[in-house]
Amino acid sequence: MKSDIGLIGAGAIGGNLALNIADNNHRVVVLDLDKAKVQNIVDDDITDNITMAKSLQDLVSSLKSPKIIILSVKAGPLIDSIIQDLYPLLDERDIIVDGGNSNFKETIKRNRHLKDKNIEFVGMGISGGSSGARNGPSLMIGGSEDAWAILSPILRSIAANYDGISCCDHVGSDGAGHFVKTIHNGIEYGIMQLISEVYQLMRDGLDLTNLDIANIFDEWNKGELQSYLIEITANILRIENENGTSFIDTILDKAAQKGTGRWSAELALELGVPATIISSSVFQRIISSFKEDRVALGDLYKIKGENIVLENGIHTIYDALHLGIILSYVQGFLILYHGSIEYNWELNYSSIAKIWGDGCIIRAKLLKDLVREFESDPMLSNLLYASYLIRQIKSKYSALKIITSSAISANYAVPSLSSAINFINSYLRGNLPTNLVQAQRNFFGNHKLEFI
Ligand code: 6PG
Repeated sequence: MKSDIGLIGAGAIGGNLALNIADNNHRVVVLDLDKAKVQNIVDDDITDNITMAKSLQDLVSSLKSPKIIILSVKAGPLIDSIIQDLYPLLDERDIIVDGGNSNFKETIKRNRHLKDKNIEFVGMGISGGSSGARNGPSLMIGGSEDAWAILSPILRSIAANYDGISCCDHVGSDGAGHFVKTIHNGIEYGIMQLISEVYQLMRDGLDLTNLDIANIFDEWNKGELQSYLIEITANILRIENENGTSFIDTILDKAAQKGTGRWSAELALELGVPATIISSSVFQRIISSFKEDRVALGDLYKIKGENIVLENGIHTIYDALHLGIILSYVQGFLILYHGSIEYNWELNYSSIAKIWGDGCIIRAKLLKDLVREFESDPMLSNLLYASYLIRQIKSKYSALKIITSSAISANYAVPSLSSAINFINSYLRGNLPTNLVQAQRNFFGNHKLEFI
């Protein structure tokens, strides 16, 4: 019997996707250079829907027509080399789906290249990590309507659900899916950095234990801040090593990155979007990587973090974090809006907020509010005009101001919280000192002046 889907790459994501596809009654044929990995998946499959391909040729000839092949391999040149090998084996209307974190500009090029032979190339943003891939990821699909019509029954059946709606949708043509996924990750970077900043304030400024902080995050996760990233933060802070020491205290303070956060920041610059929380989170990961310098310079300068005294401290930190997180989404959606215009995608923002409602890393209760705002005004270009956001920003502004200034006074780095307050104090102001910058620029460069 022929298979419905071919899958290349049996790593943590690919393997779990194959099992998820099989559970949903689709037959999958899997290829990986490491045959043992594929065998493990075949062994784990209780549906008998998964088979192993011996070669690329074998994979292709085992598929129904039009053939659908999902790539779950490292983004970059490997995708091009697989496309090159597949090209002579595929026919018109066959579909290659790139399920990696590829750069959407590469996806646009690959899509154009394969059009020569009428082969569909779909860029599929997948979020939710390996457990999402197994139990229901969030899927952002970019490609033609024709390809989407063929893929949607299968992809929707394996995705997460948000209030009964599948967290899988067609977001636009060619690179749109990978673009939306990139911005998802940019928002993810911003939120993770904001959480780490308040963790530091509670750990070092308020001298709380990891267990205290875990309990606080758990409590926060019951309210408006309910989200996957807050939930896992509480869980991580509770983990103990075998010898009883705290797991988090044994982790080096260096965070690597694979590219999507940086691309989000680069896109913000290219498109002229002030995504300052997202970009500061990328820079903070970069600073974190200079561990040896930080240790040496710390000894040299001896600027130490101090205790923070706050009235109603935890509640104020909660409000500050909440507002920072809201503004990360605001900035992410601003990049989406400007990218959509630049690349003619006509992105549907309520649909994207629904895709992100469950299954993905930035899933959060807040997404429900964003869906409501975008549904009531589908042309909304900037969430700062949305009534829910206006209420939130007004009520939490002073907390963000207090926390940022207290943190800086006590010598803590809060680049993303302070980007958030500076974003408010700039973008929400009709009067900036940039008249002087304009005048200076004209003074030495003889540029054209704009007057009031
Ligand atoms: C997701 C994650 C996933 C991955 C990122 C992390 O949505 O499931 O975002 O795509 O964990 O690649 O990126 P960094 O390695 O750059 O932090």
